Amino acid sequence: MFINRDFHKPLSFDYPEHPKFGAYYSPLLFKMKVKKAQVDDFRAEIVDFKSQSFHPGLCALHYGQSVFEGMKAYRQKDGGAGIFRLDLHAERFLKSAKKMVMAEVPQEIFKQALTEYVRELKDLVPSEEGHSLYLRPLLFNADEVIKVGPGQEYWFYIMSTAAGSYFTSGGESKKAKVYVNPKFIRAFPGGNGEAKTAGNYAASLGPQSVASSYGCDQVLFLNALDHESIDEMGGMNVFFIEGDQLITPELNGCILNGVTRRSIISLASEVGLKPLERKIGFSEVSEKIKSGAISEAFACGTAAVIAPIGEFLFQKHDSQAPEEIALKQDSVKTMELLTLLNGVHRGQFDKYNDWIFKV
Ligand SMILES: Cc1ncc(COP(=O)(O)O)c(C=O)c1O
Repeated sequence: MFINRDFHKPLSFDYPEHPKFGAYYSPLLFKMKVKKAQVDDFRAEIVDFKSQSFHPGLCALHYGQSVFEGMKAYRQKDGGAGIFRLDLHAERFLKSAKKMVMAEVPQEIFKQALTEYVRELKDLVPSEEGHSLYLRPLLFNADEVIKVGPGQEYWFYIMSTAAGSYFTSGGESKKAKVYVNPKFIRAFPGGNGEAKTAGNYAASLGPQSVASSYGCDQVLFLNALDHESIDEMGGMNVFFIEGDQLITPELNGCILNGVTRRSIISLASEVGLKPLERKIGFSEVSEKIKSGAISEAFACGTAAVIAPIGEFLFQKHDSQAPEEIALKQDSVKTMELLTLLNGVHRGQFDKYNDWIFKV
């Protein structure tokens, strides 16, 4: 891959102490045109982020043929910078692109692009506790034509933003409040739920606006077929702790195979938990929270890392007020997992250092 570098120096990156997620952009943008069936001769450029402008007829804006990833670069224990599980993100990006019949960015090219991009920003990767550089690779239909159909050409971009704590209130972390309504559907069998594609997020906006009106942070989506078994949240996977079991819904084609989810399943035994991927219904969860059998629940994803859940608001019937199902115990195991994962992100455990791609 050839990369032309054309940006202004010195680079600067300003963000407040508690940056709003996704709002403070680093100064650089990676851009590469990709054609269908392209296997070599990849030519890219790294430019000033602010130099970008779009044609209003851009096909991706109208018809949503767009896939992306969300990953983070962390300041490492040794002072360097490292990208967390770059290989798994490269694999999932390719899978999403295939699902959406797009041009494919080979995994090696994806990894090289991310590495070269972060290398330019190495000095700007936040080093404050709980902070990181959120990386957003994006592939979208670049045709400038108002006609639905797969693109002839695609843009592959990488942009990045400052990331601090995801669920905060005035800088204080708080437990997440989650809305559940069986009529809300995000994805369905045979659909695109397991791809990280724009339309899935568009589908979650209506339900999220209802959730927000009840003061909830996220929606927990139930499966489209039975309106009962748990899929995932709008932008996160979910786990429940029952005794020494760490339960998460199995992959069923409707949910994203989260990199954080996969990492937590691998780390569970370190905190004395046994991971279990299985179909789990919301009725079971609700009863077990009330009886105390389920002691903790948490959401997880690259953006939020691990966020303890404080309560579910279950709206069985629209005509009635939602039922509050609160988790009363302290999130002890959840916080143990979070501390461990935070350490892994920063390269503090040799055992997991092959999860970090040093740049
Ligand atoms: C729908 C959805 N589920 C789960 C996740 C968590 O995935 P990951 O841990 O790879 O960030 C995300 C976040 O990207 C998501 O958008």
